[in-house]
Amino acid sequence: MRTLIRGGTVLSSTGAVTADVLVDGETIAAVTAPGMLAGQNVEVDTEFDATGKYVMPGGIDAHTHMEMPFGGTFSADTFETGTRAAAWGGTTTIIDFAVQPKGSSLLSTLDNWHEKADGDCAVDYGFHMIVSDVNDATLKEMESCVAAGVSSFKMFMAYPGVFYSTDGEILRAMNKAADIGGTIAMHAENGIAIDELVARALAEGRSEPYQHGVTRPPELEGEATSRAITLAKVTGSPLYIVHLSAAQALSAVAEARDEGQNVFAETCPQYLYLSIEDLGKPDFGGAKYVASPPLREKHHQPDLWRGLRTNDLSVVSTDHCPFCFKDQKELGRGDFTKIPNGMPGVEHRIDLLHQGVVAGEISLARWVEACSTTPARMFGLYPRKGVIAPGADADIVVYDPAAEQTISAETHHMNVDYSAYEGMTVTGRCETVLSRGSVVVDRGTYHGRAGHGRFLERDLCQYLN
Ligand code: URP
Ligand code: ZN
Ligand code: ZN
Repeated sequence: MRTLIRGGTVLSSTGAVTADVLVDGETIAAVTAPGMLAGQNVEVDTEFDATGKYVMPGGIDAHTHMEMPFGGTFSADTFETGTRAAAWGGTTTIIDFAVQPKGSSLLSTLDNWHEKADGDCAVDYGFHMIVSDVNDATLKEMESCVAAGVSSFKMFMAYPGVFYSTDGEILRAMNKAADIGGTIAMHAENGIAIDELVARALAEGRSEPYQHGVTRPPELEGEATSRAITLAKVTGSPLYIVHLSAAQALSAVAEARDEGQNVFAETCPQYLYLSIEDLGKPDFGGAKYVASPPLREKHHQPDLWRGLRTNDLSVVSTDHCPFCFKDQKELGRGDFTKIPNGMPGVEHRIDLLHQGVVAGEISLARWVEACSTTPARMFGLYPRKGVIAPGADADIVVYDPAAEQTISAETHHMNVDYSAYEGMTVTGRCETVLSRGSVVVDRGTYHGRAGHGRFLERDLCQYLN
């Protein structure tokens, strides 16, 4: 099966060229000057005219939580519904977090996540491993995870009693990561201090969703980020700060990077567009925006955009972790600590970041780099993913930069009953999406299928040598 995508503006992390892209089976066969294949007797089965459109590598969302257990419930997207929504939004690879329950092994956790995802995904997927129980056996198992294509390990400085690891435990895991070439991904918030602020808020009768933001101040993200960086420096472990939201944390990352340390960071669209004011929405509406780290005051946003331009923020992921307002977020009426933490977003990352291009915050090349090329390299998937080049998987998005759409729960495909961006009109839309050569979405029609997506065994971080 051959597909020709004709005359589009082919984007990469270094710029743009007008070119034709020939897909043969599951991979890209050629990227040529426009019309060059016409005289060469190359038979094609399907053609797309991409004149006036961008042709870009499929998005890689390196931070999702499908069917994630949290606070007695589960995030509302299954691997099936979540990857379908991802495909609608031009994301053709997700990297989801397998969650080690305390007392269980990493390998049984990995088996469990494979069972959830196998046969269900519309696009390709990989896993990170959440390490919540550091002990000799777990540390040893980190080696087996790397061998099984899971080369990154998330740890938590937040959520004492649940996922939290002490500095000593983090140090041990980082030592191991340094030995085996793994990456430690860190949720950097000072959970011990936060718990004190939370207890005081509840004792004073401050129980509404806005208090989620008040009790997790940006300084405690900055402090935890600095501490994680210091622990990584002592151990020589690569460090990837997940869902960075605060200027204080960004400064710490920038300083470490200036000194040459292997420290990387991602931010998420919610921190670029939404703010703590959303947590104050009436009628418990703020619960829709409860995620950790919390949404910040708006003045952090220009710093985050600058970090994206300077590469101190290398990746934009979604931290997609949807909980329905009804029945799930509502568990926290009267006590904000019982609101499941997380927000939906996997479907709109590429569109939302495109607004940064429209507004002049980032270049087209940087958009592609942060949404696709860098996550591919950061998590050992390049050049199979993250680039339009011969031999790469034919994960391709034809993007109409002039289309307009209004984001709404009425029209989105995520399995959640609200949108964090309800009513926001954005410029640009994915017109056609290919996953390994198969058309998954085309002009408003879904052609994908559960089970098309394959598990990706990832290499080590490709920025380390
Ligand atoms: O609130 C969030 N971010 N929920 C998902 C879990 C995590 O910490 O990434
Ligand atoms: Zn986290
Ligand atoms: Zn997360």
